[in-house]
Amino acid sequence: MSEKKRLCYIHTMGCQMNVHDSEQMAVLLKRHGGYDQTDDVEQADLVIVNTCSVREKAEQKAHSFIGRMRKLKRENPDMIVGVAGCLAQQWGELFIKRSPHLDFVCGTHNFHRIAEIVDRTQRTSRPVIETDFHKSVRSIGVYAPPQPGTVHAFVTIMQGCNNFCSYCIVPYLRGREESRDWRDIVNEVTTLADDGVKEVTLLGQNVNSYGQTLDDDVNFSRLIGYIHDIKGIERIRFTTSHPKDLSDGLIDCFHGLPKLCEHIHLPVQAGSNRILKRMNRGYTVEEYMRKVEKLHERCHGISVTSDIIVGFPGETEEDFQKTIDLMEKVRFDNTFSFQYSDRPGIASVGYAEKVPMEVKKRRLVVLQSRQKEITLEKNQAAEGAVVDVLVDGVSKNSARDVTGRTRTNRIVNFEGDISLIGQVIDVKITTAYMHSLRGVAVPGGRFHNVG
Ligand code: SAH
Ligand code: SF4
Ligand code: F3S
Repeated sequence: MSEKKRLCYIHTMGCQMNVHDSEQMAVLLKRHGGYDQTDDVEQADLVIVNTCSVREKAEQKAHSFIGRMRKLKRENPDMIVGVAGCLAQQWGELFIKRSPHLDFVCGTHNFHRIAEIVDRTQRTSRPVIETDFHKSVRSIGVYAPPQPGTVHAFVTIMQGCNNFCSYCIVPYLRGREESRDWRDIVNEVTTLADDGVKEVTLLGQNVNSYGQTLDDDVNFSRLIGYIHDIKGIERIRFTTSHPKDLSDGLIDCFHGLPKLCEHIHLPVQAGSNRILKRMNRGYTVEEYMRKVEKLHERCHGISVTSDIIVGFPGETEEDFQKTIDLMEKVRFDNTFSFQYSDRPGIASVGYAEKVPMEVKKRRLVVLQSRQKEITLEKNQAAEGAVVDVLVDGVSKNSARDVTGRTRTNRIVNFEGDISLIGQVIDVKITTAYMHSLRGVAVPGGRFHNVG
């Protein structure tokens, strides 16, 4: 009789780092544990909750999902349930006290050991806890082979963060900044290209300071240059950039390197210098604006997106208005905006003048509704234009449509079949929506395989 297949369900919360960490864990679990992935948590022999802790809400969501696993485990006592990622790092051993049904806790520097952790869990009756930090970057160096037909892949180029923005828990949970050797990154991207990937997104909390922990004379612009030379890679993206470290050299890359897509995510966080200082961001509004202007000068049509926090301790109505003024000036293509949330251990927990919840809520509504208008206006400005779309799959809404992204990172849906996946198509935009564009392939337009 054939052995029963082992199934694993990974529930991923949080940022793109976590998404990629989960991809890497899935590969390791298949390779060393024989686990296949399932979308059905009830069928799983192993459940991993890959958590985020950046805001209180993220933490609550993680605890609530983990709580739901208690019932499943009661019904199926052989099921292994573990927690990984940032909240796992934060709680460590205490997680087991809070949720005794957990079998293991895998911190942010230990993803590369996940198969061993699961294996040990099966062999002992005690929970396994691995939350030590390691200086090496092994946990981000696992190659995740793309599924057939995958067009885009993430590549982690560094771990940790040294910036200690006063509101942010990430440096405590991901450790100090450590760059990955550029040769490993180039090898990984080359292998991805050989496996059919056309577009890579380079990942790090602050990619602009890439290379600072390496002995080689390599910085982020140079790394992009190396990746630009890799045959088969058609598009390069990166995230996230810290404005204080955005160099003229990197801005020039947008002009000089055609594969680098015209989009930058450049979190500003606030539009008041007083608040930026209290946030320990290391730049002023004027410096930020100058960098955005340079980006537009060097790269016509570049899309600029951002993160914004409302209600940071001490933020007055006047400070908030300055954030709105900055939004109006920059006209971000899109923003992710959040209510400030206290996190354990961060500097701003101790700051006085906490902004009341209703005020934070109101400010967020004002900001988000204005951003929606700007995003829609910017999308509408694309109507009638012909844009390059790298097709990456079938549309979720209609099997007759394919979906892809413009170089500026807008989603475009248009009629077409799966043979277009992996190709860059000239598409004329007909209708703009808030979250996507609709268009038609240009007859006789570019229709070429980019491999
Ligand atoms: N490394 C990235 C972002 C990491 S966290 C950067 O430097 O921009 C993602 C976003 O979460 C941040 O940009 C910030 O806007 C938000 N954030 C972080 N801590 C927060 C907190 N305590 N409350 C509310 N939002 C927070
Ligand atoms: Fe957090 Fe600031 Fe580091 Fe980004 S740069 S991860 S916001 S401390
Ligand atoms: Fe969250 Fe950790 Fe990412 S706290 S935002 S999952 S680095």
